[in-house]
Amino acid sequence: MAERTIPIADLRAAAAVPRVPDRPVAPTGLLADRLGRPLRDLRISVTDRCNFRCGYCMPKEVFDGRYPFLPHAALLSFEEVTRLARIFVAHGVRKIRLTGGEPLLRKNVERLVAMLAELRTVDGEPLDLTLTTNATLLAKKARALKAAGLQRVTVSLDALDDAVFRRMNDVDFPVADVLAGIEEALRAGLGPLKVNMVVQRGTNDHEIVPMARFFRDHYDGRVVLRFIEYMDVGNTNGWRMDRVLPSAQVLERLDAVFPLEPLEPSAPGETAERWRYRDGRGEIGLISSVTQAFCRDCNRARLSTEGKLYLCLFASRGHDLRALLRGGASDEQIAGAIGLIWSDRDDRYSELRGSGQAPVASGERKVEMHYIGG
Ligand code: GTP
Ligand code: 5AD
Ligand code: SF4
Ligand code: SF4
Repeated sequence: MAERTIPIADLRAAAAVPRVPDRPVAPTGLLADRLGRPLRDLRISVTDRCNFRCGYCMPKEVFDGRYPFLPHAALLSFEEVTRLARIFVAHGVRKIRLTGGEPLLRKNVERLVAMLAELRTVDGEPLDLTLTTNATLLAKKARALKAAGLQRVTVSLDALDDAVFRRMNDVDFPVADVLAGIEEALRAGLGPLKVNMVVQRGTNDHEIVPMARFFRDHYDGRVVLRFIEYMDVGNTNGWRMDRVLPSAQVLERLDAVFPLEPLEPSAPGETAERWRYRDGRGEIGLISSVTQAFCRDCNRARLSTEGKLYLCLFASRGHDLRALLRGGASDEQIAGAIGLIWSDRDDRYSELRGSGQAPVASGERKVEMHYIGG
């Protein structure tokens, strides 16, 4: 077990204070990184805590009572998050996703939603404002979130079989309560709703067809089920390639029972490949970051709970925006710093790993997923 303990203090220290340009240039919304990729999607982690212990994300042996979660003072306040979000939006961000850990554990998160909902893109449009949740608190919070201006939610659910799901969340949480959360979210108007299922060969791959059947037969096509390849995020989940079920095999298994046809992408740089049931009963998504990397168009930036900017889900180092916020930098200076950081970005972890190159320098540790969100 010892080798699975992570020196989290080192990881959090691995964030440089960003350089502020001498003469900041106002954001144009046209920022591009070194591979020509724009900045469109900001994922904000609002807490590093979660009430689940999914083995592929926060295994119980590591994230136990002794784990040093962030103290409250380290977290960005809602005002700080909103200030940064406004600057990111000026740089071209159009979609904001709140994540965690479990974002609904952050006290009064609907107040943050209301603040973010007021922002407008560079084209004057409302943001695509969404949130990823394990749905444990969704039934209780759906209406308040909708009223605050949240547009939609994505729910994580790895199995319909209660015993399998209870084992995977590792806190004995029942499927029925997640489904109640999904229903309440739909009633509140938080759709189209997506359900994310991380597929682990030998653990829940026998649930692929039952999950598809269930979400086809219920909810009149208002729920899009997405199958995610189990990824080697973080350092603690004991990832092995033989536990990954390639999306091509997911597709084969589904198509044999419910014939499918491909759909065009709905936005550039999307994570999911979309497919539609030929009988018109809705669509599914395949997220294949292991077998078919989608780094080429990756337009996603991630802001950790304590205000560090990460340019890749698999990054080892962040950029400490909180140091600028709390050090008295102006909006213009922060915008300039973010502009420099994004312009210098060349991250493409999945692509490098897929082509057999070493994506992370030896001795570096990747950031943990619960700390920057999925
Ligand atoms: P929608 O706008 O609702 O389609 O959301 P999305 O697919 O952009 O975001 P979501 O958080 O639902 O992503 C689903 C899953 O895809 C995540 O939980 C991750 O497992 C994976 N994922 C998301 N973004 C990335 C990424 O940039 N790189 C990699 N490798 N995986 C990602
Ligand atoms: N592989 C793939 N997806 C993961 N997630 C967390 N850990 C992993 C992993 N190892 C994603 C899941 C979950 C969301 C919160 O993060 O999609 O639904
Ligand atoms: Fe919590 Fe989501 Fe991670 Fe599971 S995958 S431990 S629900 S943050
Ligand atoms: Fe983007 Fe990194 Fe994911 Fe590639 S691996 S899609 S660069 S976040």
